[in-house]
Amino acid sequence: MKRILIADSVREVGKEVTLMGWVATRRDHGKVMFIDLRDRSGFIQCVGVNLKENITTEDVVKIAGLVKERPVKMVNPKIATGKVEVEIKSLEIVSKAKELPIPIDGDGYDVNEESRLKYRYLDLRRDRLTKNIRLRSQFVQKVREFLFSKDFCEIETPLLTKSTPEGSRDFVVPSRLQQGNFYALPQSPQQYKQLLMVAGFERYFQIARCLRDEDLRADRGFEHTQIDLEMSFIEREDVMEILEEMITQVFESFDVKIKQKPFPVLTYKEAMEKFASDKFDLRNEEEKKNGVKAFAWVVDFPFFEKDKEGKWTFTHNPFSKPKDEFIKDLLNKRNIEGILTTQYDLVCNGFEVGGGSTRAHRPEILEAVFGILGYEKKEIWEKFGHMLEAFSYGAPPHGGCAFGVERLIMMLANEQYLREVVAFPQTSGGRTSVMDAPNQLSSEQLKELGIKVIKNR
Ligand code: AMO
Repeated sequence: MKRILIADSVREVGKEVTLMGWVATRRDHGKVMFIDLRDRSGFIQCVGVNLKENITTEDVVKIAGLVKERPVKMVNPKIATGKVEVEIKSLEIVSKAKELPIPIDGDGYDVNEESRLKYRYLDLRRDRLTKNIRLRSQFVQKVREFLFSKDFCEIETPLLTKSTPEGSRDFVVPSRLQQGNFYALPQSPQQYKQLLMVAGFERYFQIARCLRDEDLRADRGFEHTQIDLEMSFIEREDVMEILEEMITQVFESFDVKIKQKPFPVLTYKEAMEKFASDKFDLRNEEEKKNGVKAFAWVVDFPFFEKDKEGKWTFTHNPFSKPKDEFIKDLLNKRNIEGILTTQYDLVCNGFEVGGGSTRAHRPEILEAVFGILGYEKKEIWEKFGHMLEAFSYGAPPHGGCAFGVERLIMMLANEQYLREVVAFPQTSGGRTSVMDAPNQLSSEQLKELGIKVIKNR
């Protein structure tokens, strides 16, 4: 008999069915054994008499049995199949489970991180995590549907690429064919998406993996995923409007209450005066308890700030355009501290969940930005000549944004840590789950790559 899903068995009362899944719990009452069976669709109680098999929790089993309605007083309203149970006719252990190294029945917050990540495939069996990962999948699907409905084209950009300044360190990959040369993994698809605008796609998006070698925090990983998009022939407000529509529509489809619509817009100056932070939380205590999401835009950031050595650096994105009234200042390298950028950040409940800007599509503006950042003309052309050249062949005015998928799911699932919404996250020390990278390379691999390790910490 063909296996059916546990959730579908409620429609099979009076019939024999075959179920396959994991033994979530077993309870013995003399000759009678109760098994809660779990599959991807839910749980169901199965009842066996005189079972001979040596069943333990987390065994994978195949059960053939009769679906019966439970007596009224035995109904379990807590589970979707609570009105029925399965009378076991035959049971086969398909795959035996050893005793698990971590408990998986609670929420898992109290289990130590290292064990949870070493045995992530077991940790993911936990109801809370299964729900978070499924939520993430549904969320991304809805985002895709929204963007397709607005005529966006999904395009993948390379992972093996060249360093692009996003304010972090790069992860690099050595080249075997060109020894001594390295690719950089993308900190974001920033330059490629702009090149796609030059190519004429006008509306691009990508669910993009981004890699940044930065200090890890609760809401920051070496890897993250962005809803990355770019649009042509737009003003700042056009991009913000479509992004706001996407966030509102997708969040509300999960029955989330949004505090204020349209989202309030604060200037950076207002935010700093009011909250002393550009990642503020607009909720009151009541709203925090009720899971309300308080989105707000922050605009009018300074374009440049001085770094520790007193050199100018960009606050957000060097590819942004300054606000129109500051273009003259930028081109003349005047009033640098006063130049405001077209950057917009989206904050939610005290987190920065996304950011973007309209871009410098005129080569002289981009060149002036890199000039202020201290690059010599020759260096600008070496590093960004491809962008300057591309912009000289008819570049549409364009702009875009990127949202952090993990941070949005953290908001949606009310989680405090990025690792709770990622299937295989890294430890806080930067090691991968289950497979425990990074590792040393064999001497053959190093030789092939032309690399000599001079220090092994
Ligand atoms: P930015 O660097 O602000 O912008 O990144 C966009 C959003 O991505 C999320 N994010 C992260 N999430 C988890 N871990 C990280 N290490 C991490 N870094 C960033 C945040 C952030 O708001 N190219 C520009 C976007 C653009 O202008 O279109 C960019 O990458 O939620």
